[in-house]
Amino acid sequence: MSKEINNIAVFTSGGDAPGMNAAIRAVVRTSIYYNKKIYGIYRGYEGMIEGDIEELDARSVGNIIQRGGTILKSARSDEFRTKEGRQKACDHLKKKGIDALVAIGGDGTFTGLHNFYLEHKMPVICIPGTIDNDLPGTDFTIGYDTATNTVVDAVDKIRDTALSHNRLFFIEVMGRDSGYIAINSGIAGGAAAIIIPEDEMTIDQLVAKLDKGVESKKSSSLVVVAEGGKLGNALQIAEEVHKRFPYYDTKVTILGHLQRGGSPTYFDRVLASKMGVYAVEGIMAGKTDVMVGIQNGITVYNDFESTMVKNHEIEPEALRISKILSI
Ligand code: F6P
Repeated sequence: MSKEINNIAVFTSGGDAPGMNAAIRAVVRTSIYYNKKIYGIYRGYEGMIEGDIEELDARSVGNIIQRGGTILKSARSDEFRTKEGRQKACDHLKKKGIDALVAIGGDGTFTGLHNFYLEHKMPVICIPGTIDNDLPGTDFTIGYDTATNTVVDAVDKIRDTALSHNRLFFIEVMGRDSGYIAINSGIAGGAAAIIIPEDEMTIDQLVAKLDKGVESKKSSSLVVVAEGGKLGNALQIAEEVHKRFPYYDTKVTILGHLQRGGSPTYFDRVLASKMGVYAVEGIMAGKTDVMVGIQNGITVYNDFESTMVKNHEIEPEALRISKILSI
């Protein structure tokens, strides 16, 4: 039987995502509900290595459910990639009597947590928090819905000005090496073409598609480009296309980090609240080295290997639909 857990610590790590605060709140309040002590670790693995750890109570997480970012702050830590760094972190956790960890973050966070678990055998669980929605083992990650809505809002605004000037716009969105944000914001924003790493077209194919639009009297076009593709970034693609379309007034907008900010949508708040509760209940029930996920409405706990082997696949239906509707 696994040892009883009494002192849990929660932290956020990697790129922040809207809804992380709602997840922190859920982890803190669920721990208190089950009479556990709960600690917050500041600045992710960096704070763990430096011992930047504080006990939290139900009021410490009041008025944060609607706030973007993370009250615990976040960081990407090189030192935690080393055995020595993880040992320092473990020493600080032990000094505080912490006997379980809940991490909120993406694949880098889960990789660090997995290595920590293998070396120190402390129960650990990961809540998927990243705008990229690139983790298999859950239908949605916390922050993806908000980020995609932010992109759609921006695309709508760019459409107004594109139409007024008969321009061709390339809009670059985040996702690291995943096209999730791009494909669904492209469908929702009515893009003329969507370029994603999972289904890359050539410049020739893109030009042929845009040509067809011109032939069918499209006066402006929006192309959504996911970062991280082999064709290059939006600026490079726009340059190539402009060589073949010199008569088209081409513009580029890179949405960048504004996609990570803002108040989380209702969907991300509810997702984060559920996952926070399930993470604490899971770890109390002896689940460790797993990621909480929700698939088809069912709570699942997937182990590190099954979650980290590949990216969350883009739904084939989304690809098919985008091609039919972008003529
Ligand atoms: O993983 C989230 C993400 O926003 C990616 O979409 C993007 O590639 C990356 O983080 C940017 O990282 P940073 O904020 O460190 O520049």
